[in-house]
Amino acid sequence: MVISGGIAAYKIPDLVRTLVRAGLVVRCVMTRSAAQFVTPLALQTVSGHPVRADLFDASEEGAIDHIALADWADLVLVAPATASLLARMSHGLADELAGTLLLATRAPVLAAPAMNVNMWRHPATQENVERLRRRGVRFIGPETGALACGWEGEGRLADPAVIAAEVELLLAPKRLAGEVVVVTAGGTREPIDPVRVVANRSSGKMGTAVAAEAARRGARVVLISGPTALAAPAGVHRVLVETASEMRAAVQAELGACTIFVAAAAVSDFRPLAPAADKIKKDSIGEASRMVLELERTPDILAEVGEASAREGGGRLVVGFAAETRDLLAAARRKLEQKRCHLIVANDVTREGSGFDVDTNVVSFVGPGGEVEELSMRSKREVAERLLDRIEKLRGERS
Ligand code: C5P
Repeated sequence: MVISGGIAAYKIPDLVRTLVRAGLVVRCVMTRSAAQFVTPLALQTVSGHPVRADLFDASEEGAIDHIALADWADLVLVAPATASLLARMSHGLADELAGTLLLATRAPVLAAPAMNVNMWRHPATQENVERLRRRGVRFIGPETGALACGWEGEGRLADPAVIAAEVELLLAPKRLAGEVVVVTAGGTREPIDPVRVVANRSSGKMGTAVAAEAARRGARVVLISGPTALAAPAGVHRVLVETASEMRAAVQAELGACTIFVAAAAVSDFRPLAPAADKIKKDSIGEASRMVLELERTPDILAEVGEASAREGGGRLVVGFAAETRDLLAAARRKLEQKRCHLIVANDVTREGSGFDVDTNVVSFVGPGGEVEELSMRSKREVAERLLDRIEKLRGERS
């Protein structure tokens, strides 16, 4: 693990002890400034291995060189990750041993930031974090609370026990290896004429997060998404579609190999019956200043997949979403049955921090027997993680 120079470094010997107790082998690399906050001797004592700090120390390089150390690690944990180290990581600086190791390693990297709230919120830090995330660096925390600098807010190092649990999870086997996960995401757009569409507020964030997480867990993932501003996640094959019928055709094409189907898309339920070939002119609607748009139902993709999966009996897991504005759980249970799903992710889109085009979600899982597990508000990424934990569990129970 890499320890950089922030006050939270005093918590790191405790974290190292927890990791060692969990059976992991931990080797510590400190940045130069980290030694101002925690001693190499403390880290050496708890890890049971020499602690490295200097890129050019002949005796240290003799014992194990920095490239060998980078290759040796199954995971690199950066804790605490200061604003300065995150900036250096984001720019790929190899100015000292820590940065060199982080460039050379091919192992997953988990960073636990800790800093003053204003430093954390600063656009420079946020841009660095975003860039690192895009490259696949995972983040845990920071948490909100009292900070060592005297401020209150976001910036506390995540609880060492929580960091240790995340490390263990990451080092766990790729539990979805061999699964083929098909995810629908985003809203569809149904043409009224060549210019106008019937659309909805979905951004595609939830489904995209599910696809990204399934890929991290080793599944082969196809993401079938309506128009979205989001980039395709690493390791995910994305198929972009416009309309419900295009989405249906794309799902049908992938269904043969699919072992887990997750319908997170907000498929338009209605489409104009007869889209106009030319742009409808406003003066073409006559005196009444009104026009009636006749709509018809679109195919229910999830219901079709649920039906086909039940008929084929091949063990495909089918997961749906239910975005509701009232009677959430009753509607979710109804959908579970009607669409022959194994799990419904229900969210009340009227709640703050839930639903369309925000980065968080408040959801409940409604399981095969109608049982409910409620989650508190969390990022869509965390919701995706919990959903896939749940899917893995269902998979285990069924096989
Ligand atoms: O019936 P309702 O639209 O509320 O159901 C929501 C669930 O059904 C979501 O999982 C959504 O992706 C899926 N769905 C679908 N095709 C439709 C409508 C909804 O796959 N035409």
